[in-house]
Amino acid sequence: MKILRTAGSAQKITSRLRLNNKTIGFVPTMGYLHEGHLSLIKTARKKAEIVLISIFINPLQFSPREDLAKYPRDFKRDEKLCKVAGVDYIFYPDVKEMYPKDYSTYVKIENITNRLEGEIRPRHFIGVATIVLKLFNIVQPHLAVFGQKDAQQICIIKKMVDDLNVNTKIIVCPTVREQDGLAMSSRNVYLTKQQRKDAPYLFKVLEYAKRKILAENYNRDIDFLKGQMNKLIKSRPTVTKIDYISFNDSRTLDEIKTLKNIKNKEILISLAVRFSNVRLIDNIVIKS
Ligand code: PAJ
Repeated sequence: MKILRTAGSAQKITSRLRLNNKTIGFVPTMGYLHEGHLSLIKTARKKAEIVLISIFINPLQFSPREDLAKYPRDFKRDEKLCKVAGVDYIFYPDVKEMYPKDYSTYVKIENITNRLEGEIRPRHFIGVATIVLKLFNIVQPHLAVFGQKDAQQICIIKKMVDDLNVNTKIIVCPTVREQDGLAMSSRNVYLTKQQRKDAPYLFKVLEYAKRKILAENYNRDIDFLKGQMNKLIKSRPTVTKIDYISFNDSRTLDEIKTLKNIKNKEILISLAVRFSNVRLIDNIVIKS
């Protein structure tokens, strides 16, 4: 396994791999790897001959109020996990390498970035799209693997790839969870004992909504369901704020206001909840 620190060295290697007809599978991450990331690597391993992962905490996707400085990092540990998982290359640039002083180009995807996470974190997806396109240009992957955990991120990357004719196939892997249902996240390490006890409730509430919708054959009123979900989440003592609970078309992210005549659409139910300064997101999809 090789560690690449510059865009130039990575590009040289990936160009050579492409010339030699090797398929490149790419997994972009911000490091502090967990089983969720490892499941993406495993999928890339199955589908491509060469697996490259990037570890880069992208300052552009954090707002000044967010946890960039505190974001967990442990490269030595990540390196060991990558080796065991069969990664061939880690692209591990520093901030100056990705954003030199005179950096001035940004990728803005309209409409689908304005809602859900985008509403709460206005410039977040400009940061995500910009870094992912830069990484795609450096790595030149045949396929790139992302997690369903960040459902809106997937829609945005797919839209960018379509709109800008990026020659990379996007593969989505299911959310990996702890035994009690909590979606794995690098941020979970910041939960206190009591918050950690309450956090699995988010998935339980999403499952509750899904169960209700299916059991009542799509006859449930969405506002009623949202109200119930809201109440259930607020009943957890360490929850400080619910940023949103939302029902959307999983592909277009258009808001779904009623379940009438909904068949043939995939419903994405997503939420973002704050436990003091730890903000968790989760989602569930109902395929009708
Ligand atoms: P990061 O949060 O490190 O996540 C990297 C990838 O792992 C993303 O595709 C994310 O959806 C996936 N992932 C995270 N938790 C997961 C889980 N529990 N199960 C399955 N997959 C999971 O997402 C980012 O980094 C950044 O925005 C990035 C795309 C790297 C751009 O900076």
